[in-house]
Amino acid sequence: MGTYGREELKNQDLEDLVLVLSPLVGSMDSQVLKWALDLGIVDIIHWHGQPMTLSQLSPSLSLPCTNHENLRRLMRYLVHMRLLSTQGDDLYNLTSASKFLIVEDSKSLVPFLRLIQYTDTDKWHSLGSLLEAKGSDGEDVWSYFAKNAEHSKLFNEAMACEARLVTPALIDGCRDIFRGIKSLVDVGGGTGTASRGIAKAFPHIKCSVLDLPHVVETIQDYPDVERVPGDMFSFIPYNDAVMMMKILHDWDDEDSVKILKRCKEAIPKEGGKVIIVDIVLDIEDGQEITRSRYAFDVIMMLSTGGGKERTEKE
Ligand SMILES: C[S@@+](CC[C@H](N)C(=O)[O-])C[C@H]1O[C@@H](n2cnc3c(N)ncnc32)[C@H](O)[C@@H]1O
Repeated sequence: MGTYGREELKNQDLEDLVLVLSPLVGSMDSQVLKWALDLGIVDIIHWHGQPMTLSQLSPSLSLPCTNHENLRRLMRYLVHMRLLSTQGDDLYNLTSASKFLIVEDSKSLVPFLRLIQYTDTDKWHSLGSLLEAKGSDGEDVWSYFAKNAEHSKLFNEAMACEARLVTPALIDGCRDIFRGIKSLVDVGGGTGTASRGIAKAFPHIKCSVLDLPHVVETIQDYPDVERVPGDMFSFIPYNDAVMMMKILHDWDDEDSVKILKRCKEAIPKEGGKVIIVDIVLDIEDGQEITRSRYAFDVIMMLSTGGGKERTEKE
């Protein structure tokens, strides 16, 4: 401890208190967001098409509400989170962040939020402990999904909604990496959101999706993207480029090297490309976004057994 003047000590204490209390506040943020989704608050205001009062909102909620005062306090919290706004005392509207919470919006993150919220349930915890045993009973998260269609669907939808946000950024922001490519396989491409986007943006690139059979069989027919059921540890089809979006973060270093070796065999020695789309931990662009990168690392730790987010060097 250094020595502080009276005012400094107070300020320092206040800052330290915020550090200690923010996890508690964060857990309330998460709870209130879950309630908002469960009640359908954002969707109701969206479909109403204009700001709503509490008495207009309340009959449309997914649960009967007789306690308007508690609902008002819930709404006040959502306004403070800037997920909603107020106009006057009792008129609630959407904010620019609300679009991510509208089920039908093309930028909706609802399936992803649902998946993360799902990790709080006992079921997911038992899946988590099942994964801890990776190596002893041999079952990993992907084998679990192969046997649990409902969870697999939830997971695939969550991945797809993220891919709907990331793919346009990849296409617009990294256009050059697609130059010179005539064929591309999206390894672990899930239900094909990214490859459909790439095929549409670059019609001259022949795109395919390689994923596990139980995932590939759920992909809707899309003429410009070929579906390849398979195991990336065994074989990756030959293409000018291999893309892996959020794949290596699922695996430990040893498995990642195995996958990268398969990638190397799958591309031309001259001019072949491996395009890796993953979180990079050590980019300093703001406290909040850095925190979410570390949060994803913890999610990987809990849900995959060996997966992790990496620094650029790693
Ligand atoms: C985190 S998801 C990423 C999905 C997609 N790339 C995206 O960004 O939305 C990982 C994907 O890897 C697939 N996967 C896991 N093990 C695999 C394997 N051995 N071979 C092929 N795909 C695999 C999963 O089925 C899942 O679709």
